Amino acid sequence: MTSSTDLPIDETSRAGLAEQGLTLRLVDPSDAGDHAAWFHAESRGFLGPTLPDEQVEARRTGLVDGRRLVAVLDPTAADPTSPVATTICWPADLTVPGRRSVPAWAVSGVTVAPTHRRRGIARALLDAELRTAVALGCPVAVLTVSESTIYARFGFAPAALARDLTVLTRRVRWTGPTPTGRVHFVSPEQLREAGHALVEGVRLEAPGQISYEGHLWDRQIGLAAGDSNAKNLRCVRYDDAGGSPQGFAVYQLKEDPSDFVEHELTLHALVATTTDAYAGLWRFLLEMDLVSKVSAHLRPVDEPLRWMIDDFRAVRVNEFDHLWVRVLDVPAALTARTYSAPGRLVLGVDDPDGFAAGTWAIEVDARGGATVQPSDEPADATVTVTALGSLYLGGVSAGTLAAAGTLTGDVARVDATFRSTVAPYLSIWF
Ligand SMILES: CC(C)(COP(=O)(O)OP(=O)(O)OC[C@H]1O[C@@H](n2cnc3c(N)ncnc32)[C@H](O)[C@@H]1OP(=O)(O)O)[C@@H](O)C(=O)NCCC(=O)NCCS
Repeated sequence: MTSSTDLPIDETSRAGLAEQGLTLRLVDPSDAGDHAAWFHAESRGFLGPTLPDEQVEARRTGLVDGRRLVAVLDPTAADPTSPVATTICWPADLTVPGRRSVPAWAVSGVTVAPTHRRRGIARALLDAELRTAVALGCPVAVLTVSESTIYARFGFAPAALARDLTVLTRRVRWTGPTPTGRVHFVSPEQLREAGHALVEGVRLEAPGQISYEGHLWDRQIGLAAGDSNAKNLRCVRYDDAGGSPQGFAVYQLKEDPSDFVEHELTLHALVATTTDAYAGLWRFLLEMDLVSKVSAHLRPVDEPLRWMIDDFRAVRVNEFDHLWVRVLDVPAALTARTYSAPGRLVLGVDDPDGFAAGTWAIEVDARGGATVQPSDEPADATVTVTALGSLYLGGVSAGTLAAAGTLTGDVARVDATFRSTVAPYLSIWF
């Protein structure tokens, strides 16, 4: 298989942008200056600051193998070496129902300079990435979005939701299991290796998780080069009764200058491989003296926490879309996961861009494995490609999609087949 960095730039998008006088090309991996220009353009595109040189250099040298950086250049711009648009994409393992994974094309860093907006550059980039994913044999593409209005037109749809929680800790008494291990303060450096092993250890637990390392992992524990917030982060590790690490949390505290007993604790990450570690870490956070509020970002929709405290309403919940999925190769994507009921389901898929369009017979065996083949039978149900993306990880019900008008036909059968017993969840932004 061609590697993601060896595949040439997409010819259709290159030719289309060339008609506007723009150059679409890969960033040269051997050229530090080319990389630096890309990182500066990406930061500017996300309305960020001019990055210090050492931060750019750290990002460049820390790039994980397989990262494919794409730039659009305008030879007529005042600085023709500064990209006017960017993407960074790579193959990631996406967890699917059944504790399995599928190669997914992770799309990130999509920016178009405000000087060049709304002339089709993002469309050219996204179309190119979808074709690149297909050429590389990734049956799905995935992304997390800054604006949820952009990506449905490219066939992406929310497949894993997430929640922000606010816990008013003075109202809370712990009623959950009594933890048997202990919490240790550790430095981010101490967490670097052991913590990543724990992340990898739970990756197959929830559909929607992707493999991640390098900058994305460093950022989660405050070690990303130039991260000005790093000094505010605290890391704790939970060891079980036998002394083995089973979880960690990364958080920060903010004082209320008018009242010292009203600190707010913001939880950036909590990973636990056992329910004992989960209880131990949450109890530690909720019972911290001088803290009246815990805010937790990017938590799973089926978080058990509210069932472990005595006041359900002490936890406020804000739910949002998080991981978006675009199915490209129906047989490869659908055979990668398992299903909740045996039987045969003929599914029609409407995809204006053609990738997933067709009628597909899904034959599920007694163990939940499936074979998927093109079919000329009448469809039991028909979905848009975006509805298929939402169904794929088993977290969105067919009934919801039918009500939204993106699924027609035998709703109960689709639901019985596709639903996952574990709610999809992705614990990072990328
Ligand atoms: C969002 C962004 C990438 C769009 O780039 P662009 O080159 O102006 O987009 P295009 O001209 O190719 O537009 C493609 C389509 O998306 C739509 N679109 C573009 N930006 C949009 C937005 N912010 N909200 C909703 N729709 C948008 C266009 O109307 C167009 O729709 P159509 O093809 O159905 O007519 C660019 O504005 C940007 O970089 N914004 C800041 C960074 C950002 O938000 N990136 C997204 C990261 S998830």
